[in-house]
Amino acid sequence: MSIQLELAKRRTFAIISHPDAGKTTLTEKLLLFGGAIQIAGTVKGRKASRHATSDWMALEQQRGISVTTSVMQFVYRDSVFNLLDTPGHEDFSEDTYRTLTAVDTALMVVDAVKGVEERTIKLMDVCRLRHTPIVTFINKMDRECRLPIELLDDIESVLNIACAPMTWPIGRGREFQGVYHLGKKILISFDQKKNDERQQARIIEDIDSPEALAHFGAYPLQQLKEELELLTIAGHAFDTEKFQSGQLTPVYFGSAINNFGVQEILDAMVAYATPPLPRQSEQRLVLPEESNFSGFVFKIQANMDPQHRDRIAFLRVCSGQYQKGMKLYHVRTQKWMLVSKVLTFMAGERTQAEEALAGDIIGLHNHGTIQIGDTFTQGETFKFTGVPNFAPELFRSVRPRDPLKAKALQKGLLQLSEEGATQIFKPVQGQYTILGAVGVLQFDVVAFRLQHEYQVDCIYDNIPVVTARWVYAKDPKKIEELIQKMPAQLAYDAADCLTYLAPSMVHLRLTKERYPDVSFVETREH
Ligand code: G4P
Repeated sequence: MSIQLELAKRRTFAIISHPDAGKTTLTEKLLLFGGAIQIAGTVKGRKASRHATSDWMALEQQRGISVTTSVMQFVYRDSVFNLLDTPGHEDFSEDTYRTLTAVDTALMVVDAVKGVEERTIKLMDVCRLRHTPIVTFINKMDRECRLPIELLDDIESVLNIACAPMTWPIGRGREFQGVYHLGKKILISFDQKKNDERQQARIIEDIDSPEALAHFGAYPLQQLKEELELLTIAGHAFDTEKFQSGQLTPVYFGSAINNFGVQEILDAMVAYATPPLPRQSEQRLVLPEESNFSGFVFKIQANMDPQHRDRIAFLRVCSGQYQKGMKLYHVRTQKWMLVSKVLTFMAGERTQAEEALAGDIIGLHNHGTIQIGDTFTQGETFKFTGVPNFAPELFRSVRPRDPLKAKALQKGLLQLSEEGATQIFKPVQGQYTILGAVGVLQFDVVAFRLQHEYQVDCIYDNIPVVTARWVYAKDPKKIEELIQKMPAQLAYDAADCLTYLAPSMVHLRLTKERYPDVSFVETREH
């Protein structure tokens, strides 16, 4: 089959949601419908044990499994799906953000009881950086939840994205009876099935038929018709262009735990989600159908097993084809690498890759030479953009217990920051390095790795900083002025870029007002 046809079948996506909205349940159901797992519980089992974990080492013991589930490839109908896991609970980290830079579509799961929650808002902000198209699944319609119209309003106002309802619920909570499919103009009946059964929902073709009346009852049908009427005035119609530019999201209602609405989501991904798109590099636009291989690293996972201290760099293929045994050009180090051990990810198992196309993810074994954001090609020198550093929200100062270990500490911190495990900042005033993270577990990871890989035991202190902004100004004098006025709030990051460390959001706002010629930026390109 031609590469073009193969590419057209690729769908690379991630799920964004607040913890407990149903991401794990939906992931599992997607795999179930995609035939990648046979029995529900496979994914949830992993999560259940993860939930009980509060310390990082115990979590690490499951790391072998989590590498496998970092990327799950499965086939649905004729499409090849790459579902990238976005760590969400205790393991929430910058990896979660960076994973979103490697997908073409995001599937947003909203809890129908709670509406839009804080974590989702942040993840949407990341999606917005690349105008990633969003498909929305409103989950838990079987629970006593908010009114559907209110939920749409919530998404529109909080997330600032237009909603195009594609299905519409008939009742909710105990009265949830199914959905009306606006495009197909059919009624799909909800029936609580056992978890591991694929729902073969009953379909009623005509909303005005006696069958519909008998099945759903006069009042729910009347209410549905009134709501549909309202939607023709208040709702947005689906618009491919607006969807693809991230301005509008198609919305589906369902209940993941009951397998309801899952098929509609998969069908939507087949119909609307984009195949791999051209990718911007600093030098030129790179097209997926180009014959030469290229890709970039968005995540590095360290193996904690002291026997095998290797790391796996997750690379998103952007063009050409990876074939087993090929040599890849590492643009930053200007070196050719023979990548003998490469992983591809079929759901449920870790396999040796034979080949991979644009949109696919491969895992490269390495011993610390690869950094986040690195580009690999077949010899051409270009660098992909779009895997930035994100402003951390958690900060700790770090110092070695033994002052003689200061050098080892600096070396360790630099390497860990290059792998994306943490960000580091050197204050303009003050001697201790500051660590920045978005998930609290990142600090545990750093402490453990510093101790075991670099033999440095450290003291970590909380510091009064809530967020960071990279500062830029056209006129260098403005930066000098800033450094003179507030040296205690400024630091240089690992790439020597000046950063403002805000003691509070109010400080940030006031400082921005006071220095209108200085930009305070939330992301920094590598
Ligand atoms: P997460 O990965 O986003 O954190 O969420 P997860 O799938 O673990 O779901 C969180 C809780 O919500 C789970 O309950 C799950 O069973 C429940 N859930 C998911 N989808 C639905 C749904 O459609 N309807 C209802 N009523 N509940 C749903 P839990 O009690 O935390 O875990 P468990 O004991 O069920 O495993």
